[in-house]
Amino acid sequence: MSSKKNRQFTRREFLKATGAVTAAYAAMPLLSACGGGASSGGPVKLGILLPYSGIYAVLGESITEGMKMYFEEANNEAGGRKIELVTEDSEMTPPVAQQKASKLIEQDEVDLVAGIVSSGVLMGIRDYFDTNKKLLICANAGANAISRGAKTPYIWRTSFSNWQPCWPLGTWAYENVAQKVYVSVPDYGAGHNMADAFMNSFQAAGGEVLGTQYTPFPQMGDPAPFITDIQSADPPMVFCFYSGGAAVTFVKAYGEFGLSGNVPLVCAGFTVEEDVLPAQGDAALGASSGLHWALKLDNEENKKFTAAYKERTGKDANVFAVQGYDTGRVIVDMLNAVEGDTNTDKMIEALGGVSFNSPRGPFSLDANSQNPLQHIYVREVQEVDGALHNVVIKDLGPFADPGDDSKG
Ligand code: PHB
Repeated sequence: MSSKKNRQFTRREFLKATGAVTAAYAAMPLLSACGGGASSGGPVKLGILLPYSGIYAVLGESITEGMKMYFEEANNEAGGRKIELVTEDSEMTPPVAQQKASKLIEQDEVDLVAGIVSSGVLMGIRDYFDTNKKLLICANAGANAISRGAKTPYIWRTSFSNWQPCWPLGTWAYENVAQKVYVSVPDYGAGHNMADAFMNSFQAAGGEVLGTQYTPFPQMGDPAPFITDIQSADPPMVFCFYSGGAAVTFVKAYGEFGLSGNVPLVCAGFTVEEDVLPAQGDAALGASSGLHWALKLDNEENKKFTAAYKERTGKDANVFAVQGYDTGRVIVDMLNAVEGDTNTDKMIEALGGVSFNSPRGPFSLDANSQNPLQHIYVREVQEVDGALHNVVIKDLGPFADPGDDSKG
């Protein structure tokens, strides 16, 4: 869908899809001084809005590191202009993120904003960008609605929709692991999106869902009661999504209660990503997961990226760093295409044509969902050279978000 067509969504349709909470933000007018954005020859100002505190802090840091790495490779310039970063901590709450977004746009007068990790935060700031016609490039948060009923021409995503890694995994899990499942996810938008996507394809294949649990977010608290509930249901397989600090808490408890190695864990890949694997240790061994990247994915770009990231940070790369790196590339390619003219409509028009070979494999921005068309891989946590890593066991092929709720 072209950006012109996207603009046919009426404001009433958007509000219906996103709910009244976000409507309050839409009412905030932008200062007229911020409407500019044409090429001035000075630096392009890019606002970075990511969590640097709370359970997703490591995700924010990894995205930042990957993005800076790409910009440095591009000499910190694109479209004939320098790129200047202005960084803010979104924390984990929509009101804080909204306040920081308006500070970036109205006070710092950035040309566009990139970042956002949590689906709740993304939904909370969606109307601000839509109403004020400012471009937001989402580098993580996968809220499905942003590619569907709450789509706006002003938000594009370089990461994934929450549906993407989980829907193909449901069918694979039914065919390869077990026909019954217990589902555990955090009780917020991303958890619900991922559980629904997995259950949709799993049940369509003939699978049975024995039970679901929605755990407190962002702080799960003591995981013991949740693991005990899983044990009581005696499932042959568990599906879950957790990330950052919550992924460490859940998977470690899964090991401590003796489930690891006995009840196969099938999950959204974030749960056992490289950022959390060292802390999870053997509790994660054998877990299989769906994701759009893996440390050991065999392609030239990934070999180059993972080596350079390790050299730069002393750590193994993770999917969030890849998303940051690709976000940097999308921004540079977009600015080159518009020859440094940061008029928002021109930047949006250029985004639909972006495609390249990413460390995650072939990457292109699907104009219908304003989200990547990308391969989903099944990975397994294995011991490789004395450490635990995700190894690709199957490439499920390319997937784009369907753009509606028909498939979960
Ligand atoms: C989200 O809130 O959309 C989200 C957060 C962390 C992840 C993946 C998705 O690892």
